[in-house]
Amino acid sequence: MNPISARFSRITGTGSFLPPRRLSNDDLAAQLAEQGIETSDQWIVERTGIRARHFAAPDVTSSDLAFEAAKRALDAAKLDAAEIDLIIVATSTPDMVFPSVACMVQEKLGVQGCPAFDVQAVCSGFVYALTVADSMIRTGAARKALVIGAEVFSRILDFKDRTTCVLFGDGAGAVVLEASDTPGILASELHADGRHVDILCVPGHVSGGSVLGDPLLKMDGQAVFKLAVGVLEDVARAVLAKAERTDADIDWLIPHQANIRIMQSTARKLKLPMDKVIVTVDQHGNTSAASIPLALDEAVRGGKIKRGDTVLLEGVGGGFTWGAVLLDL
Ligand code: UT7
Repeated sequence: MNPISARFSRITGTGSFLPPRRLSNDDLAAQLAEQGIETSDQWIVERTGIRARHFAAPDVTSSDLAFEAAKRALDAAKLDAAEIDLIIVATSTPDMVFPSVACMVQEKLGVQGCPAFDVQAVCSGFVYALTVADSMIRTGAARKALVIGAEVFSRILDFKDRTTCVLFGDGAGAVVLEASDTPGILASELHADGRHVDILCVPGHVSGGSVLGDPLLKMDGQAVFKLAVGVLEDVARAVLAKAERTDADIDWLIPHQANIRIMQSTARKLKLPMDKVIVTVDQHGNTSAASIPLALDEAVRGGKIKRGDTVLLEGVGGGFTWGAVLLDL
């Protein structure tokens, strides 16, 4: 057998970081009330399950959060940054138009030489990035990868639009993915449908030295909700079939943390009780590409998810993009 095709990838360490400033729904509602925008803890909890989110200080960027998460993942994997030979960051809120956040993380880690690049698939970004890293490890292009999701969505929120500004937060999560003789990542499924670009977007862009168009987040929440509940069941079934596993093999589901009602619907369809679903949306809000690795790290450090457990990660978001990764931790 070809030794390269026999190679698998496995998560050997997780880490995460939340900026210290935490706003409860009441804190945010009070802040919005000063601008004449009305919302309430009750509405936010009932419609989304969100109770609090973290916002980064004005001078803190995605690469700062990513660096903190990466250090923790490296410590957990007992690796030195110099041993990493691939860095991928999933983000839609980079520090600059270019270069990539991944290159800035590489610089902050004090290492040079290995490939470093960003993946932009909005809230599906982490499952996309993990799939790319897994593929590169399987083909022998890398052996020890840092895969990070990092966001400062607070920068692109329209605080005059109560239908979106209460939903998102900032943070970062990271994993170390290493070549392994045993799996690891069992199967992945990635999808996109560009017909739905407009339902979740930040339409502004830089041109001729100015920002043209609106640089703040726009979302048709109901359209996103309806698409999300449909594709999350389909992609879960597809990735299970690819790995020749069934619903009954799932120890833990980590869906993208956007809305507790979407997670409950997915769990119901997969016949999983909610105590097998990792939920952090209540404390983090929607941190886009950071939400899945943040939830994974909290569940690992909290002792819920243990080595050997079978975990289904599911992302969904702007693009429209969606995807899933099934793995044995
Ligand atoms: O990360 C990518 C994935 N993103 C998602 O998965 C988000 C998916 N969508 C959602 O989670 C939900 O659609 C929302 C949470 C965004 C909205 O929930 P909804 O149940 O679809 O509410 P709605 O948009 O139908 O609004 C219901 C009412 C409206 O009032 P009227 O027209 O019924 O009088 C809104 O104006 O709630 C009102 N409303 C609010 N009220 C208080 C909307 N936002 C707020 C608010 N506070 N923050």
